[in-house]
Amino acid sequence: MQKVKKAVIPAAGLGTRFLPITKAVPKPMLSVLDKPTIQYITEELDSVGIEEIIIVVSPGSDVIQKHFGPAEELEKRLLSDGKKKLYDIERETQKYNVKFVVQETANGLAGAILCAEKYVGNEPFVLLLGDELIYAEKGQKPCVKRLVEIFEKTGKSVIATIEVFGDDVSKYGNIGIKEEEDGVMTISRIVEKPSLSEALSNYAIIGRYVLSGEVMGMLKKLTPRNNELYLTDVLDELSERGDLLASSFSDTRYDVGDKFGYIKANVEFALKSAEIGEETKEYIKKLAEKL
Ligand code: UTP
Repeated sequence: MQKVKKAVIPAAGLGTRFLPITKAVPKPMLSVLDKPTIQYITEELDSVGIEEIIIVVSPGSDVIQKHFGPAEELEKRLLSDGKKKLYDIERETQKYNVKFVVQETANGLAGAILCAEKYVGNEPFVLLLGDELIYAEKGQKPCVKRLVEIFEKTGKSVIATIEVFGDDVSKYGNIGIKEEEDGVMTISRIVEKPSLSEALSNYAIIGRYVLSGEVMGMLKKLTPRNNELYLTDVLDELSERGDLLASSFSDTRYDVGDKFGYIKANVEFALKSAEIGEETKEYIKKLAEKL
């Protein structure tokens, strides 16, 4: 059984859907409540004992490195002001073993993953896309943990999937299912953003994966289409051989790369907050009366 010790977070996209803020602020640094989305993603890995996280950033994204780095002056000040709770919150950002690599040109998701090769080599790794938040309630098994367990049991690459309906089917990669056992599906084929009539099932690929050690080598052999390298091309090859699995999960998913998804995440996290949950609830109730 091969253990999964590495994780890759591609966070080097242009973030054009969020212009103008993404002109100077990388999209993964947009905050949901008081925390940047990229930190929620590193926290997802807390349940699986990952030893090294590789974040792929675009040139000039130093602010992401700053977020996970030291802050001596701030810490001194928080301690001398007796703000221990805030000090602990700040220290949390430094607990990860994070390595940064720069993707010089945004040439696609597969291009971003390849930038992490010097750290990943031919080891299996968790892949978490920077623009989705997956939130597990207390006591629920997090999506990433489930994927890692499936990989460690089968040795096969595994992706997270959600059920989608209507027009949403055409927004995602879509998978055909060959067989299913204990909630684990074997994928027969993949179609990228299909029309309703081309769709193979209601299952869509989302941004959480555990990829086997051979994937990096397969990515290296890709040829670009429209100047981009596509992870889907490698997933396709794996599925043709019966070497790609999928699993659904019960956590809540927020597409924070999309404006409406981002607002939903902010409203729901505000409602859950011990600090401002109650007043947010009252505010929303009053607002709803006027709508
Ligand atoms: P998206 O397709 O959502 O692209 O990337 P984007 O650039 O972030 O956003 P929009 O559509 O222009 O608003 C999915 C994930 O893959 C990463 C992104 O950072 C995001 O987390 N990515 C994408 C890269 O790291 N490099 C790339 O070249 C492309």
